[in-house]
Parts: sequence; C-alpha cells; structure tokens
Amino acid sequence: MARKKIALIGAGMIGGTLAHLAAQKELGDVVLFDIAEGIPEGKGLDIAESSPVDGYDSRLKGTQDYKDIADADVCIVTAGVARKPGMSRDDLLGINLKVMKSVGEGIKAHAPNALVICITNPLDAMVWALQKFSGLPKEKVVGMAGILDSARFRYFLAEEFDVSVESVTAFVLGGHGDTMVPLERYSTVAGIPLPDLVEMGWTTQDKINSIIDRTRKGGGEIVALLKTGSAYYAPAASAIQMAESYLRDKKLVVPCAAYLSGEYGLNDLYVGVPIVLGSGGCERIVQVNFTAEEKAMFENSVGAVRELMDACIKLDPSLG
Ligand code: APR
Repeated sequence: MARKKIALIGAGMIGGTLAHLAAQKELGDVVLFDIAEGIPEGKGLDIAESSPVDGYDSRLKGTQDYKDIADADVCIVTAGVARKPGMSRDDLLGINLKVMKSVGEGIKAHAPNALVICITNPLDAMVWALQKFSGLPKEKVVGMAGILDSARFRYFLAEEFDVSVESVTAFVLGGHGDTMVPLERYSTVAGIPLPDLVEMGWTTQDKINSIIDRTRKGGGEIVALLKTGSAYYAPAASAIQMAESYLRDKKLVVPCAAYLSGEYGLNDLYVGVPIVLGSGGCERIVQVNFTAEEKAMFENSVGAVRELMDACIKLDPSLG
C-alpha cells in the first residue's frame, strides 16, 4: 500500500511540530507548505535527518508551491498569524481570513479529496470560512479545538486528583474562546463524574470552578509565558490525533469544531461538539442533553461564534 500523504499548510511553530509528530508516527509522507521561503524546507530537512536516529520512514518536503500538496490525504492548516501577549484570538480575524481564502483555493485546486483540519484562530470562524472558500464537503472540513481544550482540562484535573491523565476524561464544548463550555457532569475520573467526586470529598466545587476558569484561559496562559507566540505542542498533538483517527478509521469520539445542520437546533455554523471521526470524516455528531444552565452557556458560546462569523461576512461579503 502506498504511503499516505499529509500536507501541512503553514510551517511555523505548530506546523513544524505537526511534521515531527506525523513523521515519528509514520502517518505518511509529509509536505510542509509555507509562504516563507526556506522555513518549510529547513524544518523538513532537519526532521528528516532525525529519522535514521529515531527509526522511521517518512519523507519530508518543504515547498512554496501548492502543486506539491497534490492528492494529499490530510491537510492540516495553521497558516496565518498567532497571538502575542495582550491579543485575543479574535484580534487575528482580519489577517487570517485573507489567509483562509488563499489556503482554501489552494486546497480546492490540488487536494479536493483530503480531510482538512483547521487550527488557525479564531478557530470556529476560520474553519467555517475555510470550508466555504475551499468548497470541500462539510464532513471533510473540521476544526481542532475541543481535543486541546479537553486535554488542558484533563491535565489540570489529573494534577488536582494526583491520578494518571489517562484516567481522566473531560468534555469541553462550544466555541474555542473564553466562552467555551467545560461540562462537569460529563467529565470523569475512571467514569466517576466530577460532581460525584466533589461529594466523595476528592475536591471542592471551588477548586473545580478555578480549574474550569484556568481551562477557559489556557491558551492565554501560554501566550503570556511565551511572549513571542502561542501554544504549539498540545495543539499539534491534538490535531495529529484527529488525523490518525481519520487515516486509520479509528472512529474516535472527540470534540471538534464541526458543521451543524440542524443538530443542537443550529444551522450553518461550526462549533465544538462531540463527533465520530473516521474514514468518512465527521461521520456523526453526538447530541448530548443539556441542563438549563449548560444550555445557556452553550448558547452564549454560539452567540460569540456568530459574532465572529458576522465580522467575517463584513470583511468578505462572498461568505454571506
Ligand atoms: N499561506 C501559507 N502559510 C502562511 C500564510 C499563507 N497565506 N500566511 C502566513 N503563513 C505562515 C507563516 O509564514 C508562518 O510560518 O503561517 C505560519 C504560522 O506560524 P506561526 O506564526 O509560528 O504560528 P503557530 O504558532 O504555528 O500558530 C498558527 O494556529 O493556534 C493557531 O492562533 C494560532 O492562528 C495561529 C495558528
């Protein structure tokens, strides 16, 4: 069987980390595309030179030519600008919307059968615009945010309980921003929901509340520490899990930004919900029941996503 082909559109901090992980996991051959000359070539060569040491066979190529992504099985998009201290994800909108247009056209022309995973922020609006610009089927264009937000929540919970991160599951829905919705009832340690763990005396509601707050601001915490950019290890690991679930048809149930057509009573928007991710792309959207309080939080988050979409339409009326 021929090797799969992974195209990384954007070879910055996340793009380089994606290339390293994809190659190490032998997901396929990797093409790094970027407008910056030399960066994708340099990162590709550097990673390739580590392959004899680590013992993996993946070819890596850097390029500024969209032709090189031809017939990619997966395209992971990080092209654009990242946050600096003091910026919100939404501040990136104007620049990154233009980038999504050129990336969408490039993918449409050269890799129309790929699964497209968008990471560029502000995520929910950018993946929505990317689907429109590329014209690819909606189930083949998804956004990476929920796995990252859940991973942050899981990590903080595992620290609080002093248990393995693997024993903690977490559920974060909604838009990828400060309005995201971490759901306590559906977050567990070995199947025991957080409210039960509070009752069992493992933690207090105050501690859970502060962990939820830290999760919501998790991206900003890293930006404030790094000062020169935003998180890249955990975002890359999260997107690689999505690519792997698709390529190996694992059908993981994971929170992703997915296109809704009627689910949760919503239409024509992307927002974070649990999906089944297999060889068909977004094969199924899982609709969970909300309490009144959860519903209000989800609606608030959807409202924030819609505001960003409206801002996109103002900048580019073709999206309307
Ligand atoms: N086409 C291709 N690549 C582009 C384009 C374009 N039109 N415009 C910019 N780029 C490239 C830049 O040259 C840079 O190498 O995108 C890369 C972005 O890399 P970084 O600035 O290092 O950003 P990174 O940390 O990888 O984050 C990328 O993901 O999480 C989000 O908010 C983050 O939007 C940001 C994106």
